[in-house]
Amino acid sequence: MGLGNLPSRVQLIDVGPRDGLQNEKQAVPAATKIELVQRLQDAGLTEIEVTSFVSPKWVPQMADNAEVMGGIARRPGVRYSVLTPNLQGYEAAAKTRPDEIVVFGAASEAFSQKNINCSIAESIERFRPVVQAALAAGIAVRGAISCTVGCPYEGEIAPARVELVARLMCEIGVQRVDVADTIGVGTPLKVQRALEAALKHYDVDRVSGHFHDTYGQALSNTLAALQLGVWNFQSSVAGLGGCPYAKGATGNVATEDVVYMLQGMGVETGIDLDRLVDAGQFISQVLGRASQSRVARALLSKRQG
Ligand code: HMG
Ligand code: MG
Repeated sequence: MGLGNLPSRVQLIDVGPRDGLQNEKQAVPAATKIELVQRLQDAGLTEIEVTSFVSPKWVPQMADNAEVMGGIARRPGVRYSVLTPNLQGYEAAAKTRPDEIVVFGAASEAFSQKNINCSIAESIERFRPVVQAALAAGIAVRGAISCTVGCPYEGEIAPARVELVARLMCEIGVQRVDVADTIGVGTPLKVQRALEAALKHYDVDRVSGHFHDTYGQALSNTLAALQLGVWNFQSSVAGLGGCPYAKGATGNVATEDVVYMLQGMGVETGIDLDRLVDAGQFISQVLGRASQSRVARALLSKRQG
């Protein structure tokens, strides 16, 4: 028995420079972030979430957003995205010429308040002019939906909440959505229910999975998403990541682990695993700790004989 009809190709968005480094206590210099982006594209990543244009009071780690966007050596065929929570963020971001902006909302009211200081309904009204402005400028628009399975403040989240936010995002013109398990509490069937809720408003090419790995479920959840035909995922080199406003959230699923699993199943990603491991090693050394990726650790110890 096989695993069903899995997609033959997967598109990964590495969110390490953004989701990863937003959560680090130590300051990471802009030059290091720029080198990380370079190493990711050298490894074959064609979508990279570079930074976010949020309040530096809320997330000081991303205060160098314009410097980082200005410093990256853009490669044709690579899509560089940035987070924009409101028009102020969008206007600053637009000057740095992102290919895609990401508005980010939540399926949980409490998390919406904690993370972006407004209700779900208010967030949609904030996003509306951002989406309009981006589309008018020829910039693609993605929407992240946080806490689609569980919330650190509200507990379990019903799929109907995810469906509601997906519908609202669709109505204001968001072109594709990320179904995020922000605190990594999801298990495969729950994650499938959350994805199916988004799939009521977006076709399968426009829904992606964004799984944090707090409970070690993210690879299983990725496989469960693949079984629904979902083929776009966010992941983070070296398993970096977390959200400062989601207590208990740890890193995203490591890009190295996802690539290893996909390669083993014959699913194409276009990514060179060895170079990706090098990129992960680079940032792990800067941060002074071992990579969260078990695949990276295993391959590194094999290299050392
Ligand atoms: P607010 O305080 O309600 O905003 O924050 P405000 O409009 O009342 O403005 C207050 C001050 O913030 C003003 O400055 C504004 O200029 C400034 P002051 O006059 O006090 O000096 N401000 C800004 N500065 C820079 N860029 C901006 C901006 N907007 C206002 N864009 C706000 C609202 C959304 C700005 C704030 O709550 C915020 O920055 N939140 C960001 C939180 C965040 O970045 N979280 C992590 C990313 S989301 C995530 O990780 C989840 C994801 O990975 C998916 C998943 O895993 O779930 C995507
Ligand atoms: Mg995240």
